[in-house]
Amino acid sequence: MDEPTDLSDLTTGDAEIIRGEALATMRELPTASFDALITDPPYCTGGTYSSDRVARTAHQKYTDSASSARQTLPDFGGDQRDQRSFTLWCTLWLTEALRLVRPGGQALVFTDWRQLPALTDAVQAAGWRWRGIVVWAKTSARPQPGFRNDCEYILWASNGIIDRDHQPPCLPGVYTVASARGRNRHHITAKPVDLMRYLVRTVRQDGRILDPFAGSGTTGVAALAEGRRFLGIEAAPAYAKIATQRLAE
Ligand SMILES: C[S@@+](CC[C@H](N)C(=O)[O-])C[C@H]1O[C@@H](n2cnc3c(N)ncnc32)[C@H](O)[C@@H]1O
Repeated sequence: MDEPTDLSDLTTGDAEIIRGEALATMRELPTASFDALITDPPYCTGGTYSSDRVARTAHQKYTDSASSARQTLPDFGGDQRDQRSFTLWCTLWLTEALRLVRPGGQALVFTDWRQLPALTDAVQAAGWRWRGIVVWAKTSARPQPGFRNDCEYILWASNGIIDRDHQPPCLPGVYTVASARGRNRHHITAKPVDLMRYLVRTVRQDGRILDPFAGSGTTGVAALAEGRRFLGIEAAPAYAKIATQRLAE
């Protein structure tokens, strides 16, 4: 997490990963240089009580102790903010992201049920126009009394009015895609490539996508598969390496 921004980690071509801190790195990038922000930030969730959320590691929150994911996948930092600092921090990086996405471009930002109210506040406080919520039905969740929390959410927002030319056609608001598992799980909170491919298709062909919390690079893998360009930023060196390898493959 404390690694300095290292622009030498750039790969060449249509997809790049920068190993560095998101906000500091974004401040170095030129205004209006992206068509979309598509990102899955640390949720800072994973517990009923505030103490659960801030005291436990991402591994402890998001993997089972006996699982192979706990044994084989690296942990990551930045997931221990309390509620107020999470909202403030999201407002900071979402403000910077608004500068980087051209007018008329879009944002798609993942969150869960606990952080949905905080993130909708942050998106709007940062100056994005909030347009809706897309549901990812992930088909599985930990058992618990009452309703299963087997969905995550994607906030949809735009930088002002969406271009008429690039306005996506009418799309479903719910996507049912199984969570990444086994050999397809490259991050402890990985998103499935097939879900990300649906999302990147909302960006114009050859458009450039920013993911400042790239993790194992799933957004970039989907972007390349769909003929879009990509810049990812990732603070954890182990995940920046995995992402760079996946994009190279
Ligand atoms: C939820 S994960 C993204 C997982 C990704 N969607 C995937 O499928 O692999 C969030 C990532 O953000 C990274 N991160 C946390 N704080 C960061 C920061 N301030 N700057 C850059 N990356 C950060 C973490 O290391 C983690 O890998």
